Amino acid sequence: MKCSINIKRKLGRRNEMIYGHFIEHFHRQIYGGVYDPGNPLSDEDGLRKDVLEAMRGIKVPVLRWPGGCFVSSYNWKKAVGPKRTPFFDKAWRVEDPNTFGTDEYVKMCRKIGCEPYICTNAGTGTAEEMSDWVEYCNLETEGEFAKWRIENGNPEPFFVKYWSIGNENYGGWEIGAKSAEEWGRLVLEAAKMIKHVDPTTELTAAALADLDWNINLLKHCGNRLDWISIHKYWDMIHETNACAGYEQVMAYTNDLETDINKVRGLLTAMGLEKQIKIAYDEWNLRGWYHPNAHTVKQGIRKEDYLYPRDKNDDNSLYTMADAVFSACFLNTCNRNCDLVGMANFAPIVNTRGCIYTHKDGIVLRSTYHVFDLYVNYLGEQVLDVWEEDPEQITVTDRLGGKTGVDEVGGRVQTEIDELDVIATYRETEKVVAIAAVNKNAETARYLELSIQGGFSGREYRICSVNGENVDSYNDIGSEQVKLVIGDWKPVPADATFELAPHSVNVIQIK
Ligand code: AHR
Repeated sequence: MKCSINIKRKLGRRNEMIYGHFIEHFHRQIYGGVYDPGNPLSDEDGLRKDVLEAMRGIKVPVLRWPGGCFVSSYNWKKAVGPKRTPFFDKAWRVEDPNTFGTDEYVKMCRKIGCEPYICTNAGTGTAEEMSDWVEYCNLETEGEFAKWRIENGNPEPFFVKYWSIGNENYGGWEIGAKSAEEWGRLVLEAAKMIKHVDPTTELTAAALADLDWNINLLKHCGNRLDWISIHKYWDMIHETNACAGYEQVMAYTNDLETDINKVRGLLTAMGLEKQIKIAYDEWNLRGWYHPNAHTVKQGIRKEDYLYPRDKNDDNSLYTMADAVFSACFLNTCNRNCDLVGMANFAPIVNTRGCIYTHKDGIVLRSTYHVFDLYVNYLGEQVLDVWEEDPEQITVTDRLGGKTGVDEVGGRVQTEIDELDVIATYRETEKVVAIAAVNKNAETARYLELSIQGGFSGREYRICSVNGENVDSYNDIGSEQVKLVIGDWKPVPADATFELAPHSVNVIQIK
């Protein structure tokens, strides 16, 4: 495919928070994941040094916490101070010791070097409890909660800038689910109180690409929000853990922009497109496996609802399909960087995350290497590209083009673009960096580039994430998927570059 890069036409400055992450009190993300007191690999605060190092390696810019469904019945006050009250987490039906709370979370963010982003309890919680949390974190000394933070050994405010009102209060599975009308009212009051505590906070609220919900939300408090949160898992396998294979995952890449376009249209119609950005603050190809939990009839035996969660730890499930899909999603966010200002991979540690922990170390799953490649080798400016005759491939979509459903629909043949390409520019080093994904499972493809002024006398290198085949994955003691950095070479006369099958590539040209 031919691709012309217009270095003079910048689509926007990619917000580094597009490479954000999420961590929830679910299974082994916190306890037994990043927070593992007593493990020799942990530091004086019980945090896994190897995990923190891996997070720094992909320059985690923002880390959303503590949920997710967990937060909708979470009482933050029980998890600060010397006396921690274990509580029964009604979302995931486990006892949470509350030994990892706000103070521990903020300290972890400081060690990672990322912005904290707290999602508040708009399920059982009140606007007052949400704004009390902001007082605790952000006021100097005024009021009881700032004084409580100081008593707990933190004299300086935490300056938590990003706050979400609620998680997925639109969903019947969520504790404290609300009607669209109730939601608009609650968010308005919570936004008012939070901004009265700290007007410098940036606020988002739970939303989805649904007109009625969003119109109500934005009508009531559009003028008080800085972000709107949307979530998406394409391979919805909460009840089955039947991970889609490579071909089906490629079919999902046809559905990467749908929700962004819907929200863009609504914000524009309401005149809010310059004020409110999209926080895609939970996304992952694969939904998490937790059978009999998001259902009306709950599991009774632990074998039915609790122990199956361990199956998320099966590293063989996370293959080049996850890497190729995630790269296409990140390309989509970059293409829409004028509106998508944040995206949080859900989650970062264990479950379906990019970092897997075990007692003796970590495994960097295929998706980790995509973040490493994009964060460290792409530019911050997104350039306009024009593609000539993009090739398409036909794939079978077992869900009949309907992603986000569990049941198998009618099989349909669907056409997808074979390559997914964006161009970026690293201003400081004057390097053009093209992210080029070849979705074809078997065949290498060739990308012919052109740019104003041509490439003569310039050098290039290709940095690639790939494995032997589409099912390659990383596990303890086995690394089948790697990030390989090529050597600098003169740009070939025809400016044509080979893209290996099922590969994620960044072509840097200096
Ligand atoms: O499957 C995990 C859940 O997905 C998160 O807790 C929630 O926010 C989303 O529904």
